[in-house]
Amino acid sequence: MMENMHSQNLPPQADRRGFFKKTFATIIGTTIGLFPVVSGLTVFFDPLRRKSSARGVIRVTTLEALPIDGVPRKFPVVASRTDAWNKFTEVPIGAIYLRRTGERTLQAFNVVCPHAGCAVDFLQERGSFRCPCHESTFTVDGKIDNPDSPAKRGLDDLKVVVRNGKEVWVEFQNFQAGHAEKIPIA
Ligand code: FES
Repeated sequence: MMENMHSQNLPPQADRRGFFKKTFATIIGTTIGLFPVVSGLTVFFDPLRRKSSARGVIRVTTLEALPIDGVPRKFPVVASRTDAWNKFTEVPIGAIYLRRTGERTLQAFNVVCPHAGCAVDFLQERGSFRCPCHESTFTVDGKIDNPDSPAKRGLDDLKVVVRNGKEVWVEFQNFQAGHAEKIPIA
């Protein structure tokens, strides 16, 4: 009799399995659902990521790394940064193209496309820059190449100086995308 009552109160084996499956699926679903929220919060609370710009006069390379052939070469821009909580030493804050056209004549461009912020490539075979996102093209000296390009201005050139006879220093800065004029990001 007792045994009968006990077995009546317990759910059948199949029901129990179903219950565990449902619970497991709910836990997984909730965890996956929370992931974007957690990522969003990480970005929101991280002051480094909130900052859209980094700038400064930065030593990028030396003249030895730049043959006098006018061909743009890409260099990372590395600097120390401090945010509200931490000091980061030697972290990449951007990248530039440098081209050397004479003994001490250099040109520097931010790699960021002025249309919407993708990184442009320099195509050796064409001798020009091309943005992979929406096909803006720029001449080797940074001007708009194709007038149908969606970018409203040429590549953002940066001030570059040679110090101590061979060090290449660049005044690194980011600019707002989507405008015809260069508007620095503060
Ligand atoms: S971001 Fe470069 S063309 Fe759109």
